[in-house]
Amino acid sequence: MLIPTPRAAAAASRSSSVVGVAGVAGSDIPGAMFDPAVFAARREAFMTAIGPDAVAVVSSLPERLRNGDAMHPFRQHSDLYYLTGFVEPDTTLVLRPGAGTDRTVMFVRPRDPEMETWDGRRAGLEGAKARYGADVAYPVAELELRLWDLLANHDELHFALGLDERMDLRITAAIARLRRTEKKGRRPPRAVVDPRLTLHELRLHKRPEELAALRTACAITADAHVAAMKRGRPGTFEYQLEATLDYTFRSRGGSGPGYASIVGAGDNATILHYIENRCEIMDGDLVLIDAGCEYDHYTGDISRTWPASGTFSAAQRDVYDRVLATQEAAIAMVKPGVTIDEIHTFCVRALTTAMIDLGLLAGTVDERIADGSYRRFYMHGTSHWLGLDVHDAGAYTRGGKARPLQPGMVITIEPGLYIPLHAVEVPERLRGIGVRIEDNILVTDDGHENLTIACPKDVATIEALCR
Ligand code: GLY
Ligand code: MN
Ligand code: MN
Repeated sequence: MLIPTPRAAAAASRSSSVVGVAGVAGSDIPGAMFDPAVFAARREAFMTAIGPDAVAVVSSLPERLRNGDAMHPFRQHSDLYYLTGFVEPDTTLVLRPGAGTDRTVMFVRPRDPEMETWDGRRAGLEGAKARYGADVAYPVAELELRLWDLLANHDELHFALGLDERMDLRITAAIARLRRTEKKGRRPPRAVVDPRLTLHELRLHKRPEELAALRTACAITADAHVAAMKRGRPGTFEYQLEATLDYTFRSRGGSGPGYASIVGAGDNATILHYIENRCEIMDGDLVLIDAGCEYDHYTGDISRTWPASGTFSAAQRDVYDRVLATQEAAIAMVKPGVTIDEIHTFCVRALTTAMIDLGLLAGTVDERIADGSYRRFYMHGTSHWLGLDVHDAGAYTRGGKARPLQPGMVITIEPGLYIPLHAVEVPERLRGIGVRIEDNILVTDDGHENLTIACPKDVATIEALCR
């Protein structure tokens, strides 16, 4: 299925003289089809949402220095990728829905044979127009020169303040300049509007091509978890399992992990964002892996917990069974109209009941929910949106209330129980056990589809894989 990017196609995707064609393997990812019409349709939907009197500015975030002269690998900002498919740094998109011409304006790095020899191919101004749908393209060095004029006389400016100080300053400088030119007929926007209300609503409702990418990301992620289960045994190091994940992600055409992989054995599994991944796995450990493959910029987000030796201890089973039952019941709740808050409330009650049954907490379920003491062992939310970002864009509330799920949304369901070794007040047999089980769930017209169903979580299957 996967089509490696032929070298000629990679060059063509950046070349000023070749028009990108739907169906030609893109430069972005092996096997992923770059279809300019997909991104044009997204821009149209966004422009319709903001209306003809608005202008939108969406920029890449700055490249980050790692050390010396080495940069962190660049990954395009998801908003900009969603609207353009353009993966280069130093890019700004200006959308002007009401303009007669030049509705899609791009500022990009110009072609530069010497720089391209060092840092890689660029689309340049011609590529931005021919392949990425810009009506007009300028060198990014001209951004400050031209921005104020592009913003003039629009009622609303849709721009995400607070992401990048440099862009914030450019925007405020453009507004300040327009205040000075008002008498000459070039006035500033009356309001700066957060893209959460428009662009992020679009991102929240996944289109078919997005679901296709997510399905691939989820399939590779599931296979990577299975590969880790097969490899993991006492004596393996956490980083070796991380390597197995990375190998699976990359060898299947993913760009790598969509967030730092968490591989925690024993007590490390009780640290929610444990990413050091450097310890040896000991006999009797549970291993918690929370990792997702990013494919065509969309990421999976699976957590699985399994016994390194191939057999759960009785105490581990006690905890695992309660988390699994909770997770499966929570997934069963997912359908249009239900809210993430309702699912979380259900999980909190089920897990608090488990905590009392297991002897982690005393008293009644209502008391322990009311005083919040369940948070000692279940301290995170149950769900988040999933898509281009692991914690994907989209408002969680409407009018101060949790919003109902709708078909096309993708969420995680990820309850857990975390009982650290230092929890000296709880039965000793339960200390040092951390369990999280996480799947990726698409809301459908009549219920849901588990996109990560291929990743086993029932005890018999995972014990067999781990043995
Ligand atoms: N790995 C991040 C999360 O599960 O939310
Ligand atoms: Mn996760
Ligand atoms: Mn998650």
